[in-house]
Amino acid sequence: MGLSDLTQDSANATVTNKSVPGPKGTVLWGSLKEFQADAIGFLDESVQRYGDIVRFRFGPVVAYLVNHPEYVEHVLVRESRRYDKNTRSVSKLRATCGDSLLSSDGDPWLRHRRLIQPAFQPRRVAEFSPTIDASTDEMLRSWEANASIGQEIDIVSEMMGLTLAIAARAFFASDIREQTAVIEQALEVILQDTWRRLETPFDFAAISPIFHRSGFRRAIQEIDEVVYRMIAQRRECNFSPDDLLSRLLHAHETDDGTGFNDKELRDAVVTLLLAGHETTANALVNAFYLISQSTETQDRLACEANQHALNAEPGELPETQRAFMEAIRLYPSIWIIERHAVEADQIGGYSIPKGATVILSPYLLHRHQEFWRTPQAFDPDRFTPDKISMRSRYAYLPFGLGPHRCIGEHMAMLVATRILARVHRHFRLRLVAGQSFNPVPGITLRHASPVRMMLERIDQGGLAIHPPKQKK
Ligand code: HEM
Repeated sequence: MGLSDLTQDSANATVTNKSVPGPKGTVLWGSLKEFQADAIGFLDESVQRYGDIVRFRFGPVVAYLVNHPEYVEHVLVRESRRYDKNTRSVSKLRATCGDSLLSSDGDPWLRHRRLIQPAFQPRRVAEFSPTIDASTDEMLRSWEANASIGQEIDIVSEMMGLTLAIAARAFFASDIREQTAVIEQALEVILQDTWRRLETPFDFAAISPIFHRSGFRRAIQEIDEVVYRMIAQRRECNFSPDDLLSRLLHAHETDDGTGFNDKELRDAVVTLLLAGHETTANALVNAFYLISQSTETQDRLACEANQHALNAEPGELPETQRAFMEAIRLYPSIWIIERHAVEADQIGGYSIPKGATVILSPYLLHRHQEFWRTPQAFDPDRFTPDKISMRSRYAYLPFGLGPHRCIGEHMAMLVATRILARVHRHFRLRLVAGQSFNPVPGITLRHASPVRMMLERIDQGGLAIHPPKQKK
């Protein structure tokens, strides 16, 4: 989106219904400075003060925050065709993802969704269980050494490394250890630069790609080299392992039989890596932290992991699954969702002008007093089947809702549940004294600095985990 688009937003938004309450802010910036200083705190304060629908002006952009399950259902599900993804955040992601799932709407989005979705069906995703276990066991072996000498770990880098190792194996079947570090670094630069460009009203890179920072350009180039090389190797040889790359390579439209060309395939792979990596890693960090604060939950998880065979699926590990669902209630990795009003609409009796930006925050909705008792407390039992049935299904949206609902949901649940169960079977984690825990909002709710934890072995004898593979 360029400066002209921002002006366009502004012009459309001048027809705003004056009665939607909200902070005025300053003449030039509106509430942009407050948002930049403390995005979540500021939005939270605003809903407490003005109610479930709030109007903001961020520089030239006018946005409406809706914070009620009915409004969320309206925007994301029932009237989703009135709200597209022609938004600032999506336009920023296009520089990285091309016209892929995260960064497109309409026909290009539908084509990608149809081609990618079959690879992420629960049955297909479950086939990655041995991959998840093998990578987790590798990490546990190094944890065993850490625990024996009382050495702390940084759970952020452990989860970043582990989830990327799993993703790399799931995508490319092979162990691409060296490239994994390159991908990890590149993804971090890309996400941070994207958030920076989103927060500033004057993003010159939106006018021309030559204004992209050199670090961002380098990151894209590095990730492209890895992904294009993998695609070329796969197209050249007849061998086709059952990994995500093969599934995408062989995906084809049922109508006309067409599949992805190389550029589309690259966009799909980068999109999935970008959308799936940091979200899952941070969700796990937050889950480990929250579980470490509750001895009862730790006991329950250890007990469940001991009772079940190590190859249990998420549904067979209800305690573990609930603990993770509660962790992503309190700290949803995607803490904010943005839409663009294609036409004028009414929400909760208020007029939403055509062209307006509409934002929803899973973080705020998951802590809404009216729908969650003691919302700040960590209580996995909120997710027992009877409690779930008593709640509006639109009060909980860690994976979004409607047509754009997360395509990787089953993968994320499988990865997280298996890792949490495997770890808590052997270890108890404890936050190092004086260590703060403070996820910060960016494109994802993330950790900008290490979160140090101590490991305590709770099982007897050696780890009942896969032995390392023998080199032939
Ligand atoms: C805990 C982990 C995850 C969380 C909390 C999460 C959350 C979300 C949310 C809230 C959305 C909806 C965004 C919107 O409506 O604008 C979404 C979409 C998406 N997610 Fe995830 N996600 C996670 C893991 C993954 C994984 C593992 C993958 C893939 C490997 C993935 C791929 C995607 C894609 C491609 C979309 C866009 C779907 C579309 O627009 O059709 N996510 N995710």
